[in-house]
Amino acid sequence: MLWLYLVLGATSVLGKNTPSVAVAPTVRLRDGNLMPRLGLGTWLGFIKMGPEEEVRGAVEAAIDAGYRLIDTANIYITEEQVALGMKKKLDEGVVKREEMFITTKLWNDAHRYEAVLPALKNSLQKLELEYVDLYLIHFPIAIDSNGSVVDVDYLETWRGMIEVQRQGLTNSIGVSNFNISQLQRLIEQTGVTPAVLQVEVNLNIQQPELLEFCKAHNIVVMGYTPFGSIFPQKAAESAPPPRVDDEELVHIAKKYNKTVPQVVLRYLFELGVVPIPKSVKKNRVEENIDIFDFELTPEERNLLKSYDANYKIVNVALWKDSPYYPF
Ligand SMILES: NC(=O)c1ccc[n+]([C@@H]2O[C@H](COP(=O)([O-])OP(=O)(O)OC[C@H]3O[C@@H](n4cnc5c(N)ncnc54)[C@H](OP(=O)(O)O)[C@@H]3O)[C@@H](O)[C@H]2O)c1
Ligand SMILES: *[C@@H]1O[C@H](CO)[C@@H](O)[C@H](O)[C@H]1NC(C)=O
Ligand SMILES: *[C@@H]1O[C@H](CO)[C@@H](O)[C@H](O)[C@H]1NC(C)=O
Ligand SMILES: *[C@@H]1O[C@H](CO)[C@@H](O)[C@H](O)[C@H]1NC(C)=O
Repeated sequence: MLWLYLVLGATSVLGKNTPSVAVAPTVRLRDGNLMPRLGLGTWLGFIKMGPEEEVRGAVEAAIDAGYRLIDTANIYITEEQVALGMKKKLDEGVVKREEMFITTKLWNDAHRYEAVLPALKNSLQKLELEYVDLYLIHFPIAIDSNGSVVDVDYLETWRGMIEVQRQGLTNSIGVSNFNISQLQRLIEQTGVTPAVLQVEVNLNIQQPELLEFCKAHNIVVMGYTPFGSIFPQKAAESAPPPRVDDEELVHIAKKYNKTVPQVVLRYLFELGVVPIPKSVKKNRVEENIDIFDFELTPEERNLLKSYDANYKIVNVALWKDSPYYPF
């Protein structure tokens, strides 16, 4: 009967419920929840790069490719497309809700304690979900409905976040774009440490002090804009090197039969960061998760480290008058 077992076993290995693709490893957050160590970004950019509808297809391709973490935000206007893409894959039986890890973010105009719950309910409605896995304060900065900076302390916002977690509308809570002193103040004043910090991390801004602080406090760092300025058509003229055609990077990529974007994502992963690359192109969505079968050498890591220039892409200077401007 062993042969029958083997045949059935082999069939189930090849069956549609077993991904033939890389599923990212997970990390346990300080609150006990598990989070995938790579996800799909769904922001279409300051200058919108395409219609929101593209995100639906990207989410479908991502789930098929093994992604389980999807990053969105109320301000991206992509929550509904995330819902559509996810619903298709849930209906097809490719994944179950509890296997997915959905992150969304509280926008700056809902920083008052009593505004947090309605804001999350609005996101849940768009996402067609009962709960999200992670809810983040998008920025430490508060604005009013006209976009003017207002003085609402993020400690008040954080208390609202603690309450929505208590009510079961999100499994984990965290913050985005907070600096070290703000994190320190948040922890000291409220006694509740964020499970996750989402900040810009890429070759040109590797955030060594922030990463060290987060490690010491058991805060997992999600790295946004992971490609930084490597694509020439997206890079500002003043952006430091490297670009995707950099000779040394191409050499490393060839050695592992990988691409330069994959080498960059692998480097961030090895730093302990959870990268959330955005793409709406199926082949790139697949390429970006295919980074779990090789490892960089210390020499290669040192080369990649040398590109750190404390150079930010996202710094939203229009809010620099906020008392809580983090950068
Ligand atoms: N918390 C925050 O304040 C904050 C701020 C910024 C971003 N984020 C999050 O982080 C995510 C990622 O950051 P991002 O969107 O700014 O930038 P990114 O992921 O570093 O780069 C996205 C760009 O790279 C292109 N691309 C992706 N994979 C590629 C590949 N393998 N080869 C060539 N080109 C590739 C994409 O084009 P195509 O789509 O055409 O492939 C897109 O133009 C966002 O989508 C969002 O979810 C959060
Ligand atoms: C927003 O702007 C309008 C028009 O200038 C003004 O009437 C309103 O009071 C402003 N709202 C806030 C919250 O400042
Ligand atoms: C190199 O990578 C490509 C794309 O993932 C794959 O199709 C090909 O089989 C790989 N070649 C080798 C020699 O591993
Ligand atoms: C962090 O943000 C605060 C505003 O809350 C600012 O005063 C401080 O200079 C920032 N710290 C760093 C290291 O950027």
